[in-house]
Amino acid sequence: MTEELERRFEDTIARDQRLEPRDWVPEGYRKTMIRQISQHAHSEIIGMQPEGNWITRAPSLRRKAILLAKVQDEAGHGLYLYSAAETLGADRTELTEKLISGAQKYSSIFNYPTVTFADVGVIGWLVDGAAICNQVPLCRSSYGPYARGMIRICKEESFHQRQGYELLMTMMRGTEAQREMVQEATNRWWWPSLMMFGPPDADSPNTEQSMAWKIKRHTNDELRQRFVDMSVPQAEALGVTLPDAELSWNAERGHYDFGAIDWDEFKQILKGNGPCNAERIAKRRAAHEDGAWVREAAAAHAAKQRDRERSAA
Ligand code: 3HC
Repeated sequence: MTEELERRFEDTIARDQRLEPRDWVPEGYRKTMIRQISQHAHSEIIGMQPEGNWITRAPSLRRKAILLAKVQDEAGHGLYLYSAAETLGADRTELTEKLISGAQKYSSIFNYPTVTFADVGVIGWLVDGAAICNQVPLCRSSYGPYARGMIRICKEESFHQRQGYELLMTMMRGTEAQREMVQEATNRWWWPSLMMFGPPDADSPNTEQSMAWKIKRHTNDELRQRFVDMSVPQAEALGVTLPDAELSWNAERGHYDFGAIDWDEFKQILKGNGPCNAERIAKRRAAHEDGAWVREAAAAHAAKQRDRERSAA
């Protein structure tokens, strides 16, 4: 029986078809899907903090409204993704506990501080730009609920990137001080944005299997290179310099060559030793605890509803 199920699973993958919640999948596939989807969801939820920090200090009502919409979008992305993880049998409460206890990860990028309002623009331009690079291929991921969630998320990410780039364009047309703020923020966010794509392929324990199962459609290094190639002309149009003296066009490769990434910094962040790791988790834990009464009230209401239906039956 299992052989027939495995054959059907492999055949679905080979024919570039989608697997749905009702389909049998190998335990390893289910586990790695829950791992990737839940950590993606955690990233969206934690990712609300760096920019949320500027909502009350936005320089105009228009900027505040745009930033509010973006942060609300990220919350929605987290909810879609937790729902997708639940279709694989994951329990949302358990996933939240794993995030808060450090048993599961969220994207390294959200462990950096947002020092000036230019950070809000650079996050939109580079961080959401990197997210688009990484997530558009996920719209073709082999797991149906994840791929479909990605289609909606990617549409919203394009708004996120455009609003960030437009914010920066406005500042670059402003005062010298504003132009310096944009350059300074770019200097801080460029390298961490390259780390978003994950470790080099040679150091990635998951990429080979995820490519075979068509969870991933491109490797970490391929998408990182695509992001660099996309970002260089955008930086030129903006009038900022990317902080990498080795960045140069390689006509032979048809790509930009770029400098070495500080993977020790990346590893430190993943160990929880980044500038904002403790603050991000403390805030998420506090929000979870503050919301306990809502969960209890909803559970009590649901139980009462069930009792009513039982006695009415
Ligand atoms: N931050 C934190 N952990 C990371 C990481 C990063 N930037 N990159 C890799 N890792 C972790 C992986 O989770 C894995 O650890 P695990 O086995 O305990 O889960 C380990 O480092 C090795 O990395 P691999 O490359 O082998 O892992 P993956 O095959 O899972 O690839 C990934 C990593 C490219 C991030 C992939 O998981 C992925 O594409 N995930 C979906 C997209 C995503 O999560 N993006 C987060 C960005 S936040 C975002 O998009 C919000 C937007 O609003 C900006």
